[in-house]
Amino acid sequence: MSVSGKKVLIAVSGGIAAYKIHFLIRNFIKKGAEVQVIMTADAEHFVTKLSLSTLSKKPVYSDFYGDNGSWNSHVELALWADVMIVAPCTANTLSKMVHGMCDNLLIATYMSAKCPVFIAPAMDLDMYVHPSTKKNLELAESFGHTIIPAENGELASGLVGQGRMAEPETIFNVVEHFFNGESHLESLKGKTVLITAGPTYEAIDPVRFIGNHSSGKMGFSLAAEASKRGAKVILISGPSSQLIRDKNIELHRVTSAREMLSKVFEFYDRIDIGIASAAVADYAPKEVAKEKIKKNDENLTIELVKNPDILKTMGEKKTHQFLVGFALETQNEEENAKGKLEKKNLDMIVLNSLRDEGAGFKNDTNKIKIFTKTDKIEFNLKSKDEVARDILNFIENQLLK
Ligand code: C5P
Repeated sequence: MSVSGKKVLIAVSGGIAAYKIHFLIRNFIKKGAEVQVIMTADAEHFVTKLSLSTLSKKPVYSDFYGDNGSWNSHVELALWADVMIVAPCTANTLSKMVHGMCDNLLIATYMSAKCPVFIAPAMDLDMYVHPSTKKNLELAESFGHTIIPAENGELASGLVGQGRMAEPETIFNVVEHFFNGESHLESLKGKTVLITAGPTYEAIDPVRFIGNHSSGKMGFSLAAEASKRGAKVILISGPSSQLIRDKNIELHRVTSAREMLSKVFEFYDRIDIGIASAAVADYAPKEVAKEKIKKNDENLTIELVKNPDILKTMGEKKTHQFLVGFALETQNEEENAKGKLEKKNLDMIVLNSLRDEGAGFKNDTNKIKIFTKTDKIEFNLKSKDEVARDILNFIENQLLK
C-alpha cells in the first residue's frame, strides 16, 4: 500500500510555516494521492488559495459560505478524507481543536472527521513550551491523534529554538508510513526495553539521605518514546516526581541503588535492550542509623561504602542484550565516555557534558553525543523528548546492522 489513490485532507492554519505546505501538497500529488485543502481565514494572509488550489487541483475552502448562496459542507469534506493533516497547526487552532471551539470551517471539518488526524504544530519557541500548549498537545494525543513534533532551529521571530513546523518531507513520511501499515509507532514491536531513571537516595537515618539532583526526565521521555514505538517497557525509577504518560509502561519505583540493582535483575534475562539513564549514587552510608541522628558534636563523620555498579553488572552478565549507558562528564568527556563503553561492556554510550548549557540533570533540554565502538555522532541542543527519539532511532539502526 502507498499513498496512491488516498484522499488527503490538508488543513492549513495561519502561521508563517504555511508557505511550506506547497511542498507537502506536491509530494502527495506526485505520489498519486488526492488532496483537498481547507484553511482558516488567517492562513490567507500567508498563502493564497490560488497557489494551493493550482497545486492540489481542487478548489480551496476557508468559509462555510460559497458564492451565490451555496455552502461548503464540512461534513462532506470530513467524511471524504482517509486522513486529515493539520499543518501548520497554530496554538490557536490546536486549542480550538482540543476544546471543541467550533467557530470556523477548519474546526467544524475536524470535529466531523472520523479518519486519523495528524497534527504538525508550528509556533514561536515560548508558545511551544507554554504549559497550555503542552497540555493541549497531550489532549490531542489522548484523542488518538498523531503529533508530528515541531523541530529546533531558526524561527520567523529571529529567535532560535523548538517551534519550527516539521519539514514537509517528515510530515509526508509519517503519513506514508501510516498508509504502509508500518506506523513509525510500531518500530520496536516485540522488543522488551528496560530503562533505569532518576536519582537514588541512600539512607543515612530514618529522615535523611544522600542523593543527587537528577529529575528522571530523560528516562521517562525514553520510556514514553519506546512505548509509543510498540515496545514493552519496564521503567525502574529512583525517587522522581515524573509521571508516566502511557499506561502500558510498567513502572517500578525504588529508592536505593541496591533496590534498583535487584529490581533490574528480576527482568534482565528477558529484555532485549537495557538503557541505564539513572544517576545512581556512587556511595551509600555503611550503616543506616535506626534513630534520627542528634546534632550533638561539632563534626559528624559518616562512613560511606561503594554502591554496586548496576550497569557494569549488566555488562558482565550480558548474553544477548543491547546495552546503552549514559555518561555525564565535566572533563576529558569523550575519553571518559569511551572508557566506560569499554569497561562496562556496553554497545553504546550517550555523553552529556555539564559544560554545555542546557544539558544534563534538571533541564528540559539535553545536548548529547553518541559513541559506539566504531561510530560517533553529535546532536544539537534539543528537548528531552526529541533526544529520546534520536537515541531510539540510533539504537534501532544499530539493531538492524
Ligand atoms: O561510571 P558512571 O557512574 O559515570 O557511569 C554512568 C552510567 O552507569 C550511567 O548509565 C548510569 O546509569 C550507570 N550506573 C549504574 N550504577 C552505578 C553507577 C552508574 O548503573 N552505580
